[in-house]
Amino acid sequence: MNNEVFKVTGGARLSGTVAVPGAKNSVLKLMTAALLAPGLTTLKNVPDIADVEIMAELLTRLGCQVQHDLESATVEIDVPIEIGHRADYDLVRRMRASINVLGPILARCGEVDVALPGGDDIGSRGVDMHIAGLTKMGAEFGNDHGYLIARAPKGLSGARIFLDLPSVGATENILTAAVLASNETVLDNAAREPEIIDLCEMLIKMGAQIDGVGTPTLTITGVKTLQPVVHSVVGDRIVAGTWAAAAVLTKGAITITGVDPDHLALPLAKLHEMGAEISTAARSFTVSMQHRPTAVDIVTLPYPGFPTDLQPQFIVINAIATGSAMVTENLFEARFRFTQELARLGADLHIDGHHCLVKGVAELSGAPVVSTDVRAGAALVLAGLIADGVTLVSGVEHIDRGYANFVSTLTALGASVSREIDN
Ligand code: UD1
Repeated sequence: MNNEVFKVTGGARLSGTVAVPGAKNSVLKLMTAALLAPGLTTLKNVPDIADVEIMAELLTRLGCQVQHDLESATVEIDVPIEIGHRADYDLVRRMRASINVLGPILARCGEVDVALPGGDDIGSRGVDMHIAGLTKMGAEFGNDHGYLIARAPKGLSGARIFLDLPSVGATENILTAAVLASNETVLDNAAREPEIIDLCEMLIKMGAQIDGVGTPTLTITGVKTLQPVVHSVVGDRIVAGTWAAAAVLTKGAITITGVDPDHLALPLAKLHEMGAEISTAARSFTVSMQHRPTAVDIVTLPYPGFPTDLQPQFIVINAIATGSAMVTENLFEARFRFTQELARLGADLHIDGHHCLVKGVAELSGAPVVSTDVRAGAALVLAGLIADGVTLVSGVEHIDRGYANFVSTLTALGASVSREIDN
């Protein structure tokens, strides 16, 4: 952990317009999908976040040439005909999405060694469904000194695969392997997050044959080769939802552009239930709030359920709401870890397994807190915006992983936030 902190002074009402960049959880997968086609892939609307740099480093070590132009928000990936097949531990441990090279490298090379990601700040993250799916397609897996080793000497071949639950990562790895496999793969109980649809759209542009995009059943007919393309990354619904939560918390009014409000249908319905006014357009929406919010129950589930990545931000709203709410986390067991930090600001929270009972309090009180993961970090800064006095949020590197220009965006909306060295 570095010694930088976000210094937040509470009290400002946020107002204005914020443009949301491309989604972290899409761009990283689109970058790995580029490996499927030799030649120059261009991604547009790329967010300026630390994880993009880590993925660029990973692709570079695999033999690609990667250029990230911040000004035009573009990443160019020049993929050689022969690519490497090893994802090193030092990168995988910094960014779990590195596991997404599994499908593309296996499809291209017939062999891949990926460091096992292990647990992270929001809990253990299995890869059993990734392995089971690719095994059905003919891959053989082993474990060697902390690395997951996969071999498919005869190539991959289509199969019928049923996921135990609609895992985002497993859906992506099976999909990106199946597009170059022989025959047809039917993937049932597939995840259908907007970022998966974005990946499918890019793959189809590259020449892949995929039916059922946006449904729980994806039917993929493998093709022999794919072509590199130009693709624009879908807007980040989680960043958009974070700014929407900021508007509600600070009794402000924020217009959020660059994202499809349909991708946030349930979170926006919850904000409306909490008392916010919401108006939507094709690629933008406005959230405004006049009074203290009403507490509302939340249950996280795979899309189109409530996103686990907005759960911490909505706990903060419930923490200062009138009444009490039950928040149930179904995806990641350690995601409530940050509530211990929120309690330091005066929130009244009781955890029982994967339930968190939040009793609204009239106000929070600023204090030093530690962010434990990217969304928890953003949620703690939001809490600081409404807390009395100064809140110092450390662990800023977590927030840098997912939020581009975090401080300048908040400052432009009227918040008193700065990045400082904590001595
Ligand atoms: C992705 C997102 C993350 C989001 C999550 C759920 C990225 C980079 N990350 O993570 O921000 O919170 O989707 O929307 O896109 N599981 C298994 N075995 C498996 C696969 C998953 O047990 O083989 C479990 C995980 O441990 C977790 C749950 O399933 O508890 C959901 O995981 P998954 O949907 O795969 O999430 P990620 O792709 O890791």
